[in-house]
Amino acid sequence: MQTPFLGKLEGAQRVFTFRDFILLPGRSEVEPADIDLSTRLSRNFRLRVPLVSSPMDTVTEWKLALEMARLGGAGTIHRNMPVERQVEQAKKVKASRTETLSVDASGRPLVGASVSPMDRERCLALDKVVDFLVADVAHFHTSKVMEAAKKVVPDVSADFIVGNVGTKKAAFDIVDELPRVDGFRAGIGSGSICITAEVTRVGAPTLFAVAEVASALQERKLDIPVMADGGIRGPGDAALAFAAGASVAMLGSMLAGTDEAPSSVVSRGGRRFKTHRGMASAAARKVRFAMDRYSVPAKGLDEGVEAFVPCVGPAEGVVATMENGLKAAFGYAGARTVREMLTKASFGSVSAAGSAELGAHSLEVKR
Ligand code: XMP
Repeated sequence: MQTPFLGKLEGAQRVFTFRDFILLPGRSEVEPADIDLSTRLSRNFRLRVPLVSSPMDTVTEWKLALEMARLGGAGTIHRNMPVERQVEQAKKVKASRTETLSVDASGRPLVGASVSPMDRERCLALDKVVDFLVADVAHFHTSKVMEAAKKVVPDVSADFIVGNVGTKKAAFDIVDELPRVDGFRAGIGSGSICITAEVTRVGAPTLFAVAEVASALQERKLDIPVMADGGIRGPGDAALAFAAGASVAMLGSMLAGTDEAPSSVVSRGGRRFKTHRGMASAAARKVRFAMDRYSVPAKGLDEGVEAFVPCVGPAEGVVATMENGLKAAFGYAGARTVREMLTKASFGSVSAAGSAELGAHSLEVKR
């Protein structure tokens, strides 16, 4: 007879990462020009381009947030700063005369900000300025965070995006217990600078987390947008996330090296870099405002690293690369829209041994 101990291992749920899958080519009548990348960001907002910049202190302050809105995506101002400064950053985006493709009901640039649900003062202050609030805690599915969210959500009018979450059970509990959920942010442990899974051996990789949350919502017949957050390295990863049920992709490291990202340029070996760091890295935690992103017992623990990313020029270039790559992926899959990726695209699973064949190989690539 099977012991419960071995059974626990043998009954382990399979988790999936971006590298485990590929999208199969499907019959297609779709030309890149026919493809519409517009999507739902949250209950009340749509984007022309399904990309949101991550609320990290090396990624999104007013400059990148405004540029993302100009290009048809959106930015989420990070919270590793005093409330007043975060409010000022958001106001700067709102007050800009720049013409943006993403706009609020009065035609002003669309902007979001990250908050901890436990920081009621910050939630209320930002609510007066921004269009959407993004919960920015590593593990939303904890009673303490959920209790705080229950109290603050009815008092904010901005869309409230809940995260981060990684399992069906989390999504069920959240929709059952919170008075309102305007979006989900899914993915725990996949971020480029993230060492949560390495340190704690706990994680819900982004592709898996998206599929879990999207299935829970489908079971409940709830049409709430899901954001894929963490580990997206290019258009292919975002395409996989859309095929698994996401409607929007959040980018951290892909945008950290852009001209509009806040960190300054450093020269190393004749090449130009910017700093990128996890919000739970020792360096980011020194600033202290976002410390509660990580759980109380883990406060003394680094769950992120500090790193260098190559300078990549204007964010416009990164967004264009993503748009072109997504259109190509949609074309192969035969999907005209983000939503059609869910119904039309099917997955092929890739073995660890075979994955090397799916990139440039057996030659020396000129760089
Ligand atoms: P990418 O891969 O786009 O991921 O750079 C960005 C996302 O990573 C998450 N994040 C962290 N996760 N430790 C973590 O475990 C950290 O220090 C950390 N900082 C950011 C976050 O969800 C972000 O959007």
